[in-house]
Amino acid sequence: MCGIFGCIIRDGQAVKLITDGLKRLEYRGYDSIGVATLLDGELHVRKDMGKLEEVVEGQRVNEMMGSIGMGHTRWATHGAPSMVNAHPHMDGSGNIALIHNGVIENYMELKEELIEKGHTFVSRTDTEVIPHLIEEELKSDIGMKGAILRVLRRLKGSYAVVVLSTHEPNRIFCARHESPLVIGVSDNGTFCASDVPAMLPYTNQVAYLRNGEMAVMSLDGYEIVKVIDGSAVERDLEEITWSLEMAEKQGYTHFMLKEIYEQPHSLRNGLRLQEQYLNLLTQFLDMGKEVLLTAAGTSYHSCLAASYIFSKLSRLTTIPVVSSEFIERYGSTVGIDSIVLAVSQSGETYDTLKAIDHARMRAGTVLGITNTVGSTMTRVSRAYLIQQSGPEIGVAATKTFTSQVMVLTQLAMRLAKQRGKLSQDELDEYEKKLKLIPDWVETVIENSAEAIEALAEKYQDEKLFLFLGRGISTATALEGRLKLLEITYVPSLAYPAGESKHGPISIIEDDVACVFVCPRGETHAHIIGSIMEMKARGARIISICEEGDEEVKRLSDDAIEIPKGIPEELSPVPYVVPLQLLSYHLAVLKGLDPDMPRNLAKSVTVP
Ligand code: G6P
Repeated sequence: MCGIFGCIIRDGQAVKLITDGLKRLEYRGYDSIGVATLLDGELHVRKDMGKLEEVVEGQRVNEMMGSIGMGHTRWATHGAPSMVNAHPHMDGSGNIALIHNGVIENYMELKEELIEKGHTFVSRTDTEVIPHLIEEELKSDIGMKGAILRVLRRLKGSYAVVVLSTHEPNRIFCARHESPLVIGVSDNGTFCASDVPAMLPYTNQVAYLRNGEMAVMSLDGYEIVKVIDGSAVERDLEEITWSLEMAEKQGYTHFMLKEIYEQPHSLRNGLRLQEQYLNLLTQFLDMGKEVLLTAAGTSYHSCLAASYIFSKLSRLTTIPVVSSEFIERYGSTVGIDSIVLAVSQSGETYDTLKAIDHARMRAGTVLGITNTVGSTMTRVSRAYLIQQSGPEIGVAATKTFTSQVMVLTQLAMRLAKQRGKLSQDELDEYEKKLKLIPDWVETVIENSAEAIEALAEKYQDEKLFLFLGRGISTATALEGRLKLLEITYVPSLAYPAGESKHGPISIIEDDVACVFVCPRGETHAHIIGSIMEMKARGARIISICEEGDEEVKRLSDDAIEIPKGIPEELSPVPYVVPLQLLSYHLAVLKGLDPDMPRNLAKSVTVP
């Protein structure tokens, strides 16, 4: 997501450190750049869309003077990439500048309240409400720290913010809730940034802010307080021993691993969808005579999983179709009564955009789910939702799959509610469980990371893998197999388990590895039958099953257990995580680079 850097220094111009810091945050992905400095009690702000070098040159950023300042790389979530939407954002008086990483869920109501009080807004971001709220609170003469604390208590969602103000020109205020922020101290001054790499050339002495904490930085160091009650927090500096390259990956050996571990966080963001767009998409889905889901690669697997969820929760038949096949298969039937829900992480996949074009030409209604605000998909869809997973650098999609499934599940639940297809109790139960998914994923990672590494060692010379699942777990199995293919190049098959009798069983002989995805639920008894069939023919069985599922464990050579209580309809997200990790470790053991698999591209923008 967005990158943040702030500093207050004794010697030199802050802008030099800020632009260098932003350069080291570039790997996070961004569409716009902005810098603010304070000089002689005045705020100076320069920002624009584009690459760092372009904005620095175009806006003459290097000419900005001052020993205190901050910079921002923006990855759009609310409001397309543009100069006005770039950070910093200001209050009405021009005395407060603020940069933000995260999503403010309740910004619409806060904005309406501020508009009633006479505030005017220039951008379409959620962020801009924050400096305006601070401006309001300052009217009660409680100082910057008091005003910011009051405002933070009103924000729902996630944030890392840095604030500069002419009211207190020798201080930087920063705070975090669910978006990262780290403080650093050197002989020359005090720093804050989204990530350690941004400040590593200046200091390796850092203190991590925790959720719900605010820091006031000055040349003398920092003071940390709790947002909830303003009470002081003691936090000593830690020494970072990572190299710059390691620090970019936050200590992980590869981006893919970092992104797998980021999933609890990205999934929490995926629960913060904008209500009005969720409702809008739901209404369109309800109107169509037919609903086609179209996507490529991993995004297609999200669609496949979603087709089960729409059917079970909202009683809506949807047809998932690989986007490169869309025109041949449904091109002559798609029309004014069709809803085409297209899913694309990048929003730029050629085949998916072609399918969209075709559907639009035939008067179909196109809806989109993407990770990229401002992508072609957001321009050509009638309405779209942003999956909020942040930039993904590893070519093999991991966190973007789980976020897409999360978004699609929320759509299905909203539609179920609108159509009255589930009772209030059932809806409440799903809602409760959906909110637990990020925690479940966290538990899966914590509990099984070591076991999966050991599993990868055991199976590292395997020549062939077969992935099987039934019902919605077919999608999980297909996605697990795709990860393996993409980054380890080991031949593999994935099938609905019931279909294995019609072909794949012929390849089973001693020691072929069979990976079963078997959550508890309606498919459980059947999948046990399939495991037995494979085992009887000599296959080695690896199961991803529910904790304490003794029946499956008894039949398996190896089992990875997933926490209890996850409804089968919600299982793809937690159950896919061990498969992502297994592929990752297998690739590393084979000496391959999982971040850059051969012949594959992150975004396929050609036919
Ligand atoms: C490429 C990538 C995959 C991705 C697919 C679809 O094949 O390597 O990781 O799933 O494109 O991309 P999209 O951006 O449309 O989701």
